[in-house]
Amino acid sequence: MNTSFDLALAEIRRRDFQPMKLDEPVEIDELPTPALLLDEQALQRNIDKMAGFLGGRGKGFRPHGKTHKCPLIAHRQRAAGAVGVCVAKVSEAVAMVHAGIDDVLVTSPITNLAKARILADLAESARISIVVDQLQGVELLAQAAADGGRLGVVADIDIAMGRTGTRSDEVLLQIAELATSTPVLDFRGVQHYAGHIMHIEGYESRKERSLALWEAVTAKVELLSARGFPCEIVTGCGTGTYNIDSEVAAITDLQVGSYVFMDQEYRLIGSPSAELFDDFEVSLTVATTAISQPTNRAITVDGGYKVFASDSVNPEPLSIAESKFRFAGDEHGVLIYPEGYQEPLLGTVQRFITPHCDPTVNLHDAFWLHRDGMVIERWPITARGCSW
Ligand SMILES: Cc1ncc(COP(=O)(O)O)c(C=O)c1O
Repeated sequence: MNTSFDLALAEIRRRDFQPMKLDEPVEIDELPTPALLLDEQALQRNIDKMAGFLGGRGKGFRPHGKTHKCPLIAHRQRAAGAVGVCVAKVSEAVAMVHAGIDDVLVTSPITNLAKARILADLAESARISIVVDQLQGVELLAQAAADGGRLGVVADIDIAMGRTGTRSDEVLLQIAELATSTPVLDFRGVQHYAGHIMHIEGYESRKERSLALWEAVTAKVELLSARGFPCEIVTGCGTGTYNIDSEVAAITDLQVGSYVFMDQEYRLIGSPSAELFDDFEVSLTVATTAISQPTNRAITVDGGYKVFASDSVNPEPLSIAESKFRFAGDEHGVLIYPEGYQEPLLGTVQRFITPHCDPTVNLHDAFWLHRDGMVIERWPITARGCSW
């Protein structure tokens, strides 16, 4: 009998995860647009910079795969020293493990036994952990792991975000106790992710807010330890606080995601030394083609909501100084450019920084990898659409 989960799993396992090489490198202008572009050298520099920064502070690097959904990038992160990778959902874990990633932490809780069983199956060939924020979650994992591999349990702590995680010390201790006393489970520690502060503008404001939250988390880690539940991992953080949270003694590893690509939302938050947050390079861009010119000083490109995902800012034009993008529906955007701009634009390729990298990646099948300006490979976004 094929259950809905069997069908969904089989489809993910049929997906490509290997690079596809072009016979000959091509110019970016020769790609079928809209196209998601990935600068291979900038990608590698970002990975190396983050790995080096965290390693230099004695912190683990546990990058978040929800950003790229691409096992090829996860393998590069592992090669740079990542202790494992994070994913947001069980289906992303399936895609990563199928492509050979051997240590995966799922950072959202589940309430479904079929999903827990899938994780226990994956745990036969990889080290799998998942966050839990209620006692029933541990019971579910215990039931699934009884017929599969051992599962790591990480208690998800919420201090102020109000998304997932428990605020209760009592629940936290119950989770640790049940996970520790269940032979097929390993209590591994805690997660705290404060997504609501990642994009606060101004380094000092982010720092003040983030350190206050981590002070509260540290107290909970100490409580667990005092009750006999030491935390092997204390994990969390994102790109916006990588250089703040890496100073927190209790944290063992950072779940940085967006740094690998960077996007316009992150660039605008600023860094200690600059108005733009440019500690990492923009490796991810989108190429579109100018296909129509209904009015002067405005050109229509072939990318709209199906190409760029945004929850706040617009795509940032790269080709024409002081031009602005506005969405013009699902398939189109309009680039408004300054008076006096002379060059004929129809048919030209126009590139943009993505507004928000994670959901933009999820709109595309593949990255076109380019090096020194020439496109060399197509990398499948294997976990595209893996949202369950
Ligand atoms: C639980 C968790 N950890 C880490 C991250 C990575 O954050 P960022 O992309 O800001 O680096 C996210 C992103 O949403 C997340 O949800």
